[in-house]
Amino acid sequence: MLIDGHGREVDYLRVSVTERCNFRCQYCMPEKPFSWVPREELLSYEELFEFVKVAIDEGIRKVRITGGEPLLREGLDNFVKMIAEYKDGIDLALTTNGYLLPQVADKLAKAGLKRINVSLDSLKEEVAEKIAQKNVLKKVLEGIQAADDAGLKIKINCVPMRGVNDKELVDLIEFCRKREYPIRFIEFMENEHAHSGAKGYTSEQIQEIIGKDYKFKKVERTGSSPSQDYEMEDGYVFGIIEPHKDDFCATCNRIRLTASGVLIPCLYFEDAQSIKEAIKNKDIKKAVEILKDVLAKKPEKNRWSEDSKISSRAFYETGG
Ligand code: GTP
Ligand code: 5AD
Ligand code: SF4
Repeated sequence: MLIDGHGREVDYLRVSVTERCNFRCQYCMPEKPFSWVPREELLSYEELFEFVKVAIDEGIRKVRITGGEPLLREGLDNFVKMIAEYKDGIDLALTTNGYLLPQVADKLAKAGLKRINVSLDSLKEEVAEKIAQKNVLKKVLEGIQAADDAGLKIKINCVPMRGVNDKELVDLIEFCRKREYPIRFIEFMENEHAHSGAKGYTSEQIQEIIGKDYKFKKVERTGSSPSQDYEMEDGYVFGIIEPHKDDFCATCNRIRLTASGVLIPCLYFEDAQSIKEAIKNKDIKKAVEILKDVLAKKPEKNRWSEDSKISSRAFYETGG
């Protein structure tokens, strides 16, 4: 069992397989051109898997593959298979923008993937394009359908952005309710890499918008999900991820590995250590030592809840 410096059990590893992405979402990526970490600096799937095994042996029970856009990295189904076959009962999931799902959803399900979280910020082509800086909606909707047809359990993530998709929250709820997908609205987390004009909403503001059309009540928090759930009168539950409060930090169970082998204890913080050398040298003892040290230093809470904080970490690097 892995316990951090604040007595929390950590059993959830988020593994990013690439920082590259085929979208340029306003809330995630810079407006100006920028360069990626060279491919040679990334860990191979085999090396990432070496660390995943170490983490599972130490007590990780949930693994989520993230990016950038994870489906951009070739052979992802094989990586899924490696993890799925390593140990029974691992909750194995993927977070994606959905664009490439039509081609691969079936392969991923056959490889052992069970759950998929897809970003869907708008149901209007031009709004989706404004957010992602690319015409994406048709492919994303096809991708969600392909994942559904392949038997994957689906959750939808949406970041409400001021003056962009804020008129559509109810339509998005309706889209998800009809298909029985849970939707989570995420408060925009300020970071140095996002577009300069990007502005989001607080949970209270999101509730106010949705409250114009629906009655709902807060659901008591259980487990470690970052989402605060709200139940509507017909029983449909939607969530809001509220990093500007730090309620979910008290039960935080996760740690993040970037594609270049940096182990990050919290989405906001800088304090991170590389496991690259240890993995390349097949030094398992050292990898475990680094994992435990990073956990010991995991902060008590994120810092968006303090005034005017802006994270210097890029979401496309940390995997959200
Ligand atoms: P489930 O396993 O389905 O509960 O998914 P998840 O919420 O763990 O994963 P997902 O990738 O869908 O995460 C949704 C978003 O919640 C992330 O991309 C982040 O934006 C946010 N989030 C998740 N964990 C944290 C966290 O530890 N801190 C903060 N500030 N935000 C988080
Ligand atoms: N604030 C909030 N959510 C973000 N995401 C990416 N960048 C941000 C940000 N700055 C979300 C995406 C995706 C998830 C992985 O992270 O919408 O659903
Ligand atoms: Fe790509 Fe996800 Fe960032 Fe959008 S939020 S640019 S889909 S990594």
